[in-house]
Amino acid sequence: MKNSLHDFIQGLPKAELHLHIEGSLEPEMMFALALRNGIALPYASVDELRAAYEFGDLQSFLDLYYAGAAVLQTEQDFYDLTMAYVQRALTDNVRHVELFFDPQTHTLRGIAMSTVFAGIARALRQARAENDFSGSMIMCFLRHLSEQDAFDTLDAALILREQYADLWIGIGLDSGEVGNPPEKFSQVFARAHALGFHVVAHAGEEGPPAYIHSALDVLNVERIDHGVRAEEDGVLMQKLIRMQMPLTVCPLSNLKLCVVTDLRQHNLARMLRAGVCVTVNSDDPAYFGGYLNANFSASAEALGLNRTELAQLAKNSFCASFAMPEQKQIWLDELVAYVDGYLAE
Ligand code: HPA
Ligand code: ZN
Repeated sequence: MKNSLHDFIQGLPKAELHLHIEGSLEPEMMFALALRNGIALPYASVDELRAAYEFGDLQSFLDLYYAGAAVLQTEQDFYDLTMAYVQRALTDNVRHVELFFDPQTHTLRGIAMSTVFAGIARALRQARAENDFSGSMIMCFLRHLSEQDAFDTLDAALILREQYADLWIGIGLDSGEVGNPPEKFSQVFARAHALGFHVVAHAGEEGPPAYIHSALDVLNVERIDHGVRAEEDGVLMQKLIRMQMPLTVCPLSNLKLCVVTDLRQHNLARMLRAGVCVTVNSDDPAYFGGYLNANFSASAEALGLNRTELAQLAKNSFCASFAMPEQKQIWLDELVAYVDGYLAE
């Protein structure tokens, strides 16, 4: 089986650009942290909790996801959560992650902003020191809350900016999309831009192509998270191709949240073949049934992606990252060497 597609995917160096760290909270860890922190969970066992992971849409997932995050209380909890993800990512030959975190999910429960930053940062710095791995942080605003709440969150986090200047690189926008269009956050994104942050936003997961247009034109984002509904708008598709605007696509997430009913109908391959800069990501792997390589493998199988296309997806993940050009070149050289070596066998 040396030459199986799975082995090829396993060895591919890659970056993950759409990963909610709270969405990597595995049921086992949720139970362990609940016990450690004296929190009662409304489930009798890990199996019972996992069995509840049947979602009809984004909101039905978000309800469980926010409830589950309540077990995260201390700096150590955020460290453990992040370190568990890093270990899993290393297994998948992920070289770089730009992870999302949702401080409002925690500050609303009385957890200090500094606790969230400190735990995630300690794990990422340790991972960087001990492995050929880098990680950075993108702070997301919850779009079902007000723009004022986002401003307050940004202000509270800015106090910590200098302390985490090596890690905190960007601002994102997530949570319930429909009814919360990007333009609701135009002022706070303008401020984030002015402060020198990279900016990204979820758009076109459940929301219409118009939300992708406004994420681009009003929020001036540098990547679109999901973006799969772009295909409904031919003009938008041409624009994405012309701009080489990266889409951070999450195939197993789209399947679990019923954005597609069958992975064989997913537009990842069509968009890739049309020339869109698509990347593959895991979104909330503890909830959606797979980390990064599982997303690559399931997509390859369902959509008939060949090795050249899989390598293109890995290449896109490095190119679309916010890493320094010299670092990107190192990864790309490594990727080329890997692919050439594999094909020569
Ligand atoms: N969409 C929107 N918000 C989210 C997601 C998602 O896929 N995952 C975690 N928060
Ligand atoms: Zn997401």
